[in-house]
Amino acid sequence: MAIEIRNVSRIFAINHMELEAIRDINLNVEDAEIVSIVGTSGCGKSTLLKIVSGLDRATTGGIFVDGWKIEHPSQKNVGIIFQESRLFPWSNVEKNIDFGLSDKLSKEDRRRIIREHVELVGLSGFEKALPGQLSGGMMQRVSLARTLINRPRALLLDEPFGALDAFTKISMQKEVLRIWEKEKTTMILVTHDIDEAIYLGDRVVVMTSKPGRIKTIVPVQLPRPRNRTSADFAVLRKAVYEEFFDSDEIPADYVI
Ligand SMILES: Nc1ncnc2c1ncn2[C@@H]1O[C@H](COP(=O)(O)OP(=O)(O)OP(=O)(O)O)[C@@H](O)[C@H]1O
Ligand SMILES: [Mg+2]
Repeated sequence: MAIEIRNVSRIFAINHMELEAIRDINLNVEDAEIVSIVGTSGCGKSTLLKIVSGLDRATTGGIFVDGWKIEHPSQKNVGIIFQESRLFPWSNVEKNIDFGLSDKLSKEDRRRIIREHVELVGLSGFEKALPGQLSGGMMQRVSLARTLINRPRALLLDEPFGALDAFTKISMQKEVLRIWEKEKTTMILVTHDIDEAIYLGDRVVVMTSKPGRIKTIVPVQLPRPRNRTSADFAVLRKAVYEEFFDSDEIPADYVI
């Protein structure tokens, strides 16, 4: 599914003052493409994702999906995964994943689809566990399954692994790639983690703040799976860092 972000700006009103969160964002995400977005806190990344999902409206401009303007959120076409877990704490893994699945399905189909998704995210054996009994990474995998169960044609990920330790994060990134290889879902990934942006993205969009704008787009032409320790990866990491910070702001201890 192709997503076109066309001249999108968003102005919020706070205490009768206007705050321009994002200005004139233009970006075409191709079908089956993964686009990473990086930028400092407050530069409007979440605002942009909410507009793409249809949960919020642009002040000017609009979002076009396969050429059609988005007017409302569509759970079926566009899935969104938020930074913080939004699972129901009182429902077990199965029930959390079941949430949002069409009522029209027969009991057997429902059970089969849930089982498939539990397996897809590697949580077999934990069907009856409550979110409080899972680790952070497992909870994010439940969120992933719950979103994927609707077979969205596009997936919007807002800092999905921000709270995870480095090892869990890397295994979740591999999980996302595995799902992408299988489903070829179009993805927009917002992250603070430059390595994650390069590891997953076909392109890395670097945003600047006040107001949030696209500063540059760095293409990532490395074959997958990518090796974070390779020299090619290091070259890209340096390129993104240099865009991320103004070159005189690059931390002195930063070496590639
Ligand atoms: N609903 C809202 N009402 C008013 N202002 C908002 C609203 N949502 C976001 N903003 C403002 O818009 C700006 C961008 O916020 P946003 O949450 O999009 O940033 P972000 O890039 O996602 O930051 P972070 O990396 O910290 O998550 C901020 O200045 C924020 O205060
Ligand atoms: Mg955010």
